[in-house]
Formats: sequence, structure tokens, C-alpha cells
Amino acid sequence: MTIAVKNINKRFGDFVALNNVSLDFPAGELTALLGPSGCGKTTLLRCIAGLEHPDSGQVLLDGEDASDRHVRERQVGFVFQHYALFKHMTVFENVAFGLRVKPRAQRPSEDQIRRKVKDLLELVQLDWLADRYPPQLSGGQRQRIALARALAVEPRVLLLDEPFGALDAKVRKELRRWLRRLHDDLHVSSIFVTHDQEEALEVADQVVLMNKGTVEQIGTPDQVYNHPASPFVYGFLGNVNVFHGRVNGGVLASEGVQLDVAGHDGVRDGVDAKGTAYVRPHEMDVERYAAGAEGIVVKLRRAHAIGPLAQLDLERADNAQMIEATISNERFTSLGFKEGETLVVRPKRLRVFVDEGASS
Ligand SMILES: Nc1ncnc2c1ncn2[C@@H]1O[C@H](COP(=O)(O)OP(=O)(O)OP(=O)(O)O)[C@@H](O)[C@H]1O
Ligand SMILES: [Mg+2]
Repeated sequence: MTIAVKNINKRFGDFVALNNVSLDFPAGELTALLGPSGCGKTTLLRCIAGLEHPDSGQVLLDGEDASDRHVRERQVGFVFQHYALFKHMTVFENVAFGLRVKPRAQRPSEDQIRRKVKDLLELVQLDWLADRYPPQLSGGQRQRIALARALAVEPRVLLLDEPFGALDAKVRKELRRWLRRLHDDLHVSSIFVTHDQEEALEVADQVVLMNKGTVEQIGTPDQVYNHPASPFVYGFLGNVNVFHGRVNGGVLASEGVQLDVAGHDGVRDGVDAKGTAYVRPHEMDVERYAAGAEGIVVKLRRAHAIGPLAQLDLERADNAQMIEATISNERFTSLGFKEGETLVVRPKRLRVFVDEGASS
């Protein structure tokens, strides 16, 4: 089922939590909602679920206005970060709960419930835990049971609010892969809130970036990572080197450095304005300094070369600002860079944001 929100506004007192938010969530896709704490992610999910009422705007489920539809009628499944399973009920009974509380006319028979719960526990690969109680489970197992419980009522939409937030990095990683596979099997339209950019980029078909109650960008992981629509998105999705200065004639002049920006994203002909260039660490070319070398002269302060990549902390010779560069560990080893050595860096790829309206 498709989910859409149109011009949603939500205030809490004077505070604007959602500011004219419009979004489309395609049917059967897994969308990640990403953004800093307090930007309105949970509020948006609650509006879609019907747990919160927007001050204005619409929630459309399969094109139909859901405003007057009660939470239960919206057929939404939820999993929250600290999802409380019923402690006094077995895993089996927790998953069966949503089916048992259905109105008599819709309630499946005891046999059907039994079969359904068994299937769901197999789906989340925890059928062997059916008779345990929640306190006897690990955190990751509890979240999977919470997901089985949400799926029991065959939701048309699945809303996951930082479901793996409280778990350690390794378990999170396993669970996010597992969630992706589960999603590929079931194809329920799902919205997944996370703080973790890597998680969003790895798991989602589509990523929505929110900031202060508004949508900054929506796109595939590749689009938002490689073609960020705003400086905010650039900074939020990974490390970045920033050069403030003035763009003119294909060159950005920034504190004694001339960056050739002609032909790069965001640079138009004939621009003469303040601008900022953004360069990701892996988009920096690094070589040993030689007389007359073009680029920014730096000193290698620290090299972190564990695993496939070498992360270099570089200090500019002219103004002591730090630049980050990432090269393959293989290249790092073959070049034999040593800490303290003088090197030269040049952006291979960059993106310029020109300050509109600051052209004088
Ligand atoms: N019931 C409420 N009353 C007053 N303010 C609220 C209420 N619910 C949310 N807010 C405020 O609205 C803003 C958005 O909250 P929301 O929970 O949607 O943020 P979030 O993006 O989910 O953040 P986090 O990543 O920390 O979970 C916050 O500033 C929050 O303090
Ligand atoms: Mg939240």
C-alpha cells in the first residue's frame, strides 16, 4: 500500500514539530527516515499511525484520506526502540496477542492462531523460544519478537522507530541485514526511523532526510550520499572537508588556496559569489610533496590504517586547519607515508554551494 503525507503541520504549543511536510512512500518499499534528534521523525510516524493528529494536512493510505480512520482501522504495525513485550506472557502469547483481541467476528480460530504464530516465529527464526518469557531473551531476540508481534495482524504498513537503537553495533548490523531480507520476502510498505546514517544507507530503498521539522531531501541512498541537495545533507551523511571562499571564473579562492571547481556539481558559468566547497575524505588525492607540486600543502599528523582503508589526519601548512583524507591501505603502504611527512592534497571531486543572494 502507498503512504503519502500532504502539507502536514504539527505544533506542540509554540513549537513547530512538523512544518508543511509532504512525502510519498511507494508501495512495498523500505524507506529510512533520518535526521538529528528532535527533527520530528517520531512525530511524523505517529501522525501516519493515527496516534497523533496533525493540525493541518492529510495522511493518505492508498490514496484515501485516513484522517477520520482510527489507529486500528489503519492496519499499521509498530515496533519501537524500547518496545515493551508483555513480561508475564510467553513469547507465543505475545505474538498471538493481536489476534486474540480482534473482534469476535474477525478472530481466527485457536487452530489458525497456533499455526500463524508458529509461522511468524519461524519467519523471525525464533520458533525455539516460543515458551520462554521476555526477560529470558536477549535484546536482539526481543526486538525480533516485537516485529513478529507487529506482523501478526497482517499490517498494511510497518512503522519502525529506531527498533535496534538500544543494541550494540554488531547485533544491530545483523538485525538490519535480517530486516532487509524479511522485507524482501514480505514486501510490506515500511518506514524505518534511525539515527544511524550507515544503517539508513545500507538498508533502505529510499532515504528521507529531515531537519527541524522539514524535509531536506528524499532519494535513493546513492542520490542522497553522492548528490546531497544541501550543505546540511552533506554534513549529516558522513565526514566532509569544507572550504569557504569566493567562486569566480571556475575557481574557488579560499584562504590562500585556489581550488579548480569548473565543471563540478553546483558551479554555474558566470558566477561571482561567496561559496563553499564540500569534499569527502575519499575524494581527496594525496601524494608526497615535491617542489612546484600543485595543491594544498599539508603535514601528515596521524594515519589510522587498520582494515582496507587508511584514514589520514592532515594539517595545512599555511593555516593549521585539519583536512581528512581516506585512501586505500594498499596505496598507503606502497607510498610509505610516515607521520610528520609533508604531503600535497587535491580534491578529485567536490560540490559547491553558492550563497544565493550574497553575490556582491
Ligand atoms: N507531546 C509533546 N509535547 C511537546 N513537545 C513535543 C511532544 N512530542 C514531541 N515534541 C517535540 O517535538 C520535537 C520533535 O519530536 P520527535 O519526537 O518527533 O523528534 P525525533 O526526530 O523523533 O527525535 P529523536 O531522534 O530524539 O527521537 C521535539 O523538539 C520534541 O521535544
Ligand atoms: Mg524519535
